[in-house]
Amino acid sequence: MSELLYIKTSANGTRSRSSQLCEHFIRQHVQANPETRVIQRDLVGAPLPHLGPEQWDALRLPPTELSEAQLAYRRQSDRLIAEFDRADRVVIALPLYNAGIPSQLKAYFDLLARAGISFEFTEQGPRGLLRDKDLYLIATRGGVLDSADDHQVPAVKQLLGLIGITRIHTLIADGLDLSPDSRELSLTTAYERLAALA
Ligand SMILES: Cc1cc2nc3c(=O)[nH]c(=O)nc-3n(C[C@H](O)[C@H](O)[C@H](O)COP(=O)(O)O)c2cc1C
Repeated sequence: MSELLYIKTSANGTRSRSSQLCEHFIRQHVQANPETRVIQRDLVGAPLPHLGPEQWDALRLPPTELSEAQLAYRRQSDRLIAEFDRADRVVIALPLYNAGIPSQLKAYFDLLARAGISFEFTEQGPRGLLRDKDLYLIATRGGVLDSADDHQVPAVKQLLGLIGITRIHTLIADGLDLSPDSRELSLTTAYERLAALA
């Protein structure tokens, strides 16, 4: 039995193109690998708390100095790190919102990237401590970006690199909101590429 963790981040429910692409990919993967157990983490359906002073202390002070609420936040971070680490494969649906990643996904990374637990500082710089794995990053965009303006895919790759994930397979479906023709061409190409990835 292998585990596939699916991280959903679109605010657009069942109309979400990133979710539809991910779910198509997962169906194909499970068909080819029926022993796969899929774990879904829907960051919009069950949002995580954002960072504030209470949460900041919760991840940095010794547990004896923390309130019950802070201990709960810390335990949530421990559970998310264990879930991510245990997974053999991870699929992330990544829509572009206002030039960046969904805030729910940022809140997830704020809980996942913890010094001393999921990465450490060394003289050569930070070093990831989580088990490397195949990670499928399926990004959607309404428009088309120059790479210099891309604060979506590079931001996620940087955060994943910090915790030790290097085997990242990226698919970008862009131009989805420009015109019906542009959307159709982009999605047709994306589904063809997904078949090869699965
Ligand atoms: C609040 C919001 C902000 C958006 N900002 C951008 C943007 O900055 N650049 C862009 O190309 N598309 C932008 N879009 C379009 C989305 O990236 C596009 O619709 C994409 O398909 C969303 O992913 P989803 O279908 O998985 O929800 C935005 C959409 C919304 C709802």
